[in-house]
Order: sequence, then C-alpha cells, then structure tokens
Amino acid sequence: MPLGGTIVNGIIRDFKAIGHHGTREAHGRANGIDPELALFLGCWLKAPHRIGALAPSSRYLARAMVRQVDVRQARLVIELGGGTGSITRALLAAGLTPERLVVVEREERLHRRLVEQFPGLRVLRGDAAQLVALLRPLGISSASAIVSSLPLLSMPKRLRHRIVDQSFALLGERGSLVQFTYGIASPLPARDFAVSGRVAARVWRNLPPAFVWRFERASGAIAKVA
Ligand SMILES: C[S@@+](CC[C@H](N)C(=O)[O-])C[C@H]1O[C@@H](n2cnc3c(N)ncnc32)[C@H](O)[C@@H]1O
Repeated sequence: MPLGGTIVNGIIRDFKAIGHHGTREAHGRANGIDPELALFLGCWLKAPHRIGALAPSSRYLARAMVRQVDVRQARLVIELGGGTGSITRALLAAGLTPERLVVVEREERLHRRLVEQFPGLRVLRGDAAQLVALLRPLGISSASAIVSSLPLLSMPKRLRHRIVDQSFALLGERGSLVQFTYGIASPLPARDFAVSGRVAARVWRNLPPAFVWRFERASGAIAKVA
C-alpha cells in the first residue's frame, strides 16, 4: 500500500480507537475502514479548507449542537454543511421530524451520500452563501434555527459576512445560529459581525475538542438580502 494510504488508514484507526465515530459499525466495510469516514477523509484530502475537519463530528459534539435547538417547538431547522450526516442524524434522533429539516451541502459526493442516507429528507446541493435563493424554490423564507458546521474560520471575512447576513435574513431577531468551532476565539466576533454570541458548550470528546457557539442578531442589524 502506498505511504499515503498507510497514513490515512492509521488516522482512521486512531479516530475509531477514541470512539470518535461510533454509529455506523454495522455498515459495509472494506478493509476494516468505515466507508463514511473514508469518504469524509477523502474529501478533506482533496480540499482541506473546503471541508474544514479531518473527520465527521463525534456523536458528543452532534448532541451538544442539537441541545441548542428546541426540536419540539421549531417550525423549521436548516443545517449548513451536512457532511456525512453526523448532526443530521442527531437532529432526527432528538425528535425533529424530517419535514421540519432542510440540509445544505456543497460537495457533490457528500450531497449524494446524504440523499442516499436520508431518503425523504430535503437535502439541497449548494453554497450556504446563497442560502436565501437556494431555499426560495421550496417556499422557505424563514427558519427557527440554523445549525452550522461550516468551516467559517477558513473562509474570507467577506464570505463569512454573506453567510451570516443570509442566515439572519431567515432567522430574524428570534432565531439562533448555532455553530461549532475548534478555535478558542469566536468564529463571528461581535465587533465585526453585529451578532451577540456565547459559548453554549465545550465538547472534549471530539477530535479536536470543540466549542459550540450560539449567535443572535438584533433586528436593527438584520440586512435585506437578495
Ligand atoms: C467540518 S465539515 C462538518 C460535516 C458534518 N456536519 C459533521 O459535523 O461531521 C463542514 C461541511 O461543510 C461543507 N461546506 C463547506 N463550505 C460550504 C458552503 N459554503 N456551503 C455549503 N456547505 C459547505 C463541507 O463540504 C463539509 O461537508
């Protein structure tokens, strides 16, 4: 096996060893490699900055994200950056019914995988920076919560602004944007993004450990977007 393959297999073994990814055990495996983890890692190897993480979120991180959403009351939740579905699964497991969830994923292979894995769920292929236009054909112009695992910190500020403006155009002043990050600092500093944010959870059982942030925006700061 080439050196790259050996390294990848080694990383995969390490993730498994810490129970990072424990939900797909029964799924078909080739050479002992979890296909979901292999797909994710393959996408990361091709374009690390577009994916932003080496492996899917652990179930502990996924649950911490979902705890920030009132799944019983939410009219509609939008998930940004579905990946291989760690957070999607946790949202559904927490009781969010599929018709109240829309998932957005930009990468073609990950999008296809989500569609196969969650039949009946609305999984859109597109860029979160075009969120309002992406949702328009579905007749969606508002959301109760947005749960995002987008790699905000590896994006230029202009793109982050666009995603945040689009998100709050849908959320209004009552909805929350829930976002995890591996950094200690806020991925959306208040002085730059006109949001108020707080750390809602710290999750050590994830590689790397993560912080879950929850952001709101006052109505005066909500921009009109096309
Ligand atoms: C860190 S991964 C998280 C995946 C998954 N939610 C999880 O927690 O395991 C980020 C995901 O966001 C997707 N993504 C990155 N930029 C995006 C964008 N502008 N619009 C939509 N999806 C994007 C990536 O393709 C990747 O699947």
